[in-house]
Amino acid sequence: MYIEKKEQVIIQNFEKNGYLIFKPEDQKILNNIKSKFLSFLAKKIYNKKSKNESYILNNIHKYIEKKKLNDFRLDIIKKINSTNEIKEKVYKLSKKYLDTLVGNELVIQKRINLSIQLPKDSSSLLPLHADTWSGVSPFELVVWLPLVNCYETKTMYILPSHKMKKYESKLINKKTKSSEQIFNLIKKDLIWLKVNYGEILVFDQSLPHGNIVNREKETRWSMNIRFKGIFTPYGDKKIGEFFEPITLKPVSKKGMNYKLPGQ
Ligand SMILES: [Fe+2]
Repeated sequence: MYIEKKEQVIIQNFEKNGYLIFKPEDQKILNNIKSKFLSFLAKKIYNKKSKNESYILNNIHKYIEKKKLNDFRLDIIKKINSTNEIKEKVYKLSKKYLDTLVGNELVIQKRINLSIQLPKDSSSLLPLHADTWSGVSPFELVVWLPLVNCYETKTMYILPSHKMKKYESKLINKKTKSSEQIFNLIKKDLIWLKVNYGEILVFDQSLPHGNIVNREKETRWSMNIRFKGIFTPYGDKKIGEFFEPITLKPVSKKGMNYKLPGQ
């Protein structure tokens, strides 16, 4: 095998479960991202910084009305995407795992996504789905980075790879079944991913996943962004509009531009 032992462990884990949770070595980068988020919050919230950063994020529902949540979320998404800084940091934090699981010539999703799940809020839920069921390429990997500790209903769930076989034939009928019916069918095998702040989750979006109403007392903040190999097949999300190359190698560049002399 050409693959190093350390990488083999990562691969085996990922292949068994369809996801991995890891703790990046450089926690400073993570803290930096978190502080950046705090600086994006409106002055009136940020000024109440008598409490620590985690407190403010976990308790943002005490500062924002539910009906204003979507505008608030869109405004922060705009801010985090105004430069490549956060995307670059997320890439750096996950690079070791992306290299092993996806490859080293990658495209990144152009716009990083943010999910804010307030307690008891049912307005921005993601019912059970697999992204591939709606035209997403199975070659994509999602990096999911929480800014607060995520657990129980404050987190997302996934059906691990090793349980997929059991349901595959039943899921073929997915078009005739509602998300809710599928959820009830596979409920007992779903894993509620406990991901603490300081950790990163990568998962296979072709596995059924989603979330339910957050019944915890704290708000969930998590970012998600996709990566795939530049030369792997694309689904509905195309290079240029949805993805951009970040690590194209010189020989690939040369190959793409090569013309036989005289042509
Ligand atoms: Fe998804």
